[in-house]
Amino acid sequence: MAQNWTPTSWRQKPIQQVPDYPDLAALAATEERLAKFPPLVFAGEARRLKSALANVAEGKGFLLQGGDCAESFAEHGADTIRDFFRAFLQMAVVLTFGAQQPVVKVGRIAGQFAKPRSSNIEKQGEVSLPSYRGDIINGIEFTEDARIPNPERQLMAYRQSAATLNLLRAFAMGGYANLDNVHQWMLGFIKDSPQAERYRKLADRISETMDFMKAIGITSENHPNLRETDFFTSHEALLLGYEQALTRVDSTSGDWYATSGHMIWIGDRTRQPDHAHIEYCRGIKNPLGLKCGPSLTGDGLLELIDLLNPQNEAGRLTLICRFGHDKVAENLPRLIRAVEREGKKVVWSCDPMHGNTITLNNYKTRPFERILSEVESFFQIHRSEGTHPGGIHVEMTGNDVTECTGGARALSGDDLADRYHTHCDPRLNADQALELAFLLAERMKGGRDEKRMVVNG
Ligand code: PEP
Ligand code: CO
Repeated sequence: MAQNWTPTSWRQKPIQQVPDYPDLAALAATEERLAKFPPLVFAGEARRLKSALANVAEGKGFLLQGGDCAESFAEHGADTIRDFFRAFLQMAVVLTFGAQQPVVKVGRIAGQFAKPRSSNIEKQGEVSLPSYRGDIINGIEFTEDARIPNPERQLMAYRQSAATLNLLRAFAMGGYANLDNVHQWMLGFIKDSPQAERYRKLADRISETMDFMKAIGITSENHPNLRETDFFTSHEALLLGYEQALTRVDSTSGDWYATSGHMIWIGDRTRQPDHAHIEYCRGIKNPLGLKCGPSLTGDGLLELIDLLNPQNEAGRLTLICRFGHDKVAENLPRLIRAVEREGKKVVWSCDPMHGNTITLNNYKTRPFERILSEVESFFQIHRSEGTHPGGIHVEMTGNDVTECTGGARALSGDDLADRYHTHCDPRLNADQALELAFLLAERMKGGRDEKRMVVNG
């Protein structure tokens, strides 16, 4: 076990981004209740994800991580979860085909409720109120009442996570993810988009392969790999009282695990090495993500790697780089070189969302071209450093929202008002998410062809 660590040792450290709960006794009572609730995920599942990520760290796989910026109580429903899962499966199948490698599927879902904020206060006109911090903490409505942190919301978030996870498990294991259904995953509103034709062609090729395999006796009935998929959950471990309550000892190994989700990550604003969030995360055995923004130096990163992954275990740590399309070239190479110099085993993933947010017509948005541009640079830099561009981390939904501009349908600033539903940051809609997956698949295919040329040439 990590030295001098307990599930509560983070409470002795300085901490950022804590909500100001007015009733601390009520908060403690809620945390006590949560501590008795069943775990949402099991240690064995987190270990399975870690070993899949270990393959990615070694260049033998690709991580697809995505979902809402912030899940909300209002949008909780079977259709939203199903449409997200369909869009996500479509992306995964496109990437698997492009990379010819296993794609590790991790949703930002079933626990992604707490949000770090750049300011404690939100001002509208002359009125200032505490900022919205995610449905697990307070309400999004701009009223004094809604903005008071309420511990009861943690129970709601737990229940919603359990229900979401239950449906996701059924989709992943109960036949919905069967490759025989590859055509049915297409969402209605995508049917007339340019992505539809590309997806249909790919689905045809998969169906043809399935028919061939059927002819030689390999079917989805006798091969579970063809009808089931591994799908994992993840969220930012921001609200540490909630995380602590769901931290449990695994009876088989005696190790501590966060049971709120399979993978948890540390945000760019809460990664101070001597602070509470790093303290909590270093002691649990789940796979961890670490957001890496422009202020992180090579030495700063190595210090964090030593704290979070002292055994240098492959699959334990995913570095989620989020610099911005115009800053990635100046920042990423120095981190790659520091990691390579010290022989640290990590998964390199690209979050092309959080460094590319702008304001347009009073809406927070992200231009699709900038998202693509950061992804392109991420791939190019890894190719020239000789390292593996191992994953992508996106904010996306299966719904037909208008939150990011651009893409094949050329959404403009004037379209944003039509269907802008996010509770926090702007997400790719299913169409844009699929377009991004096709671009990535091309890049990965390009990388494979290059390697082959090196081997054969
Ligand atoms: C997020 O992933 O929603 C987020 C807040 O990211 P970051 O910590 O990288 O800003
Ligand atoms: Co976000």
